[in-house]
Amino acid sequence: MGIWYIIKKLKIMKTILTVIAIGLIGIVAISCSPERAALVEGKSGVQLWGETCMRCHSTPSPADFNDTDWSTIEMHMRVRANLTADESKKIFDFIKSAN
Ligand code: HEC
Repeated sequence: MGIWYIIKKLKIMKTILTVIAIGLIGIVAISCSPERAALVEGKSGVQLWGETCMRCHSTPSPADFNDTDWSTIEMHMRVRANLTADESKKIFDFIKSAN
């Protein structure tokens, strides 16, 4: 009892708070992904192309490459830009339709 009893209680409280905090972070992380998916759903390939591709370099014109080259670039930039399959398809379908 005495001081050690209180310290032990505090340690249990800390553990409980940590578990709650981790739980909350998890909920935020999970709820973020569907939100992002919904955002992408409402956007056209042109929009995503304009927003995404110039984050790192000037947006290349669809006319700069042919469809075969764009397919190769898609695999390359999909990894670089960390695109989902949906985003990538929209962007590169647009590019290929416009070259
Ligand atoms: C996270 C940064 C980043 C984003 C976002 C990005 N790129 Fe790139 N891109 C690069 C880098 C870096 C290079 C230079 C080649 C390399 O080292 O990968 C490059 C090169 C290129 C090239 C030159 C050919 C090649 O494959 O090397 C093209 C075309 C291109 N990007 C198109 C795009 C398109 C289209 C998008 C949008 C979907 C895009 N990029 C989004 C970083 C990015």
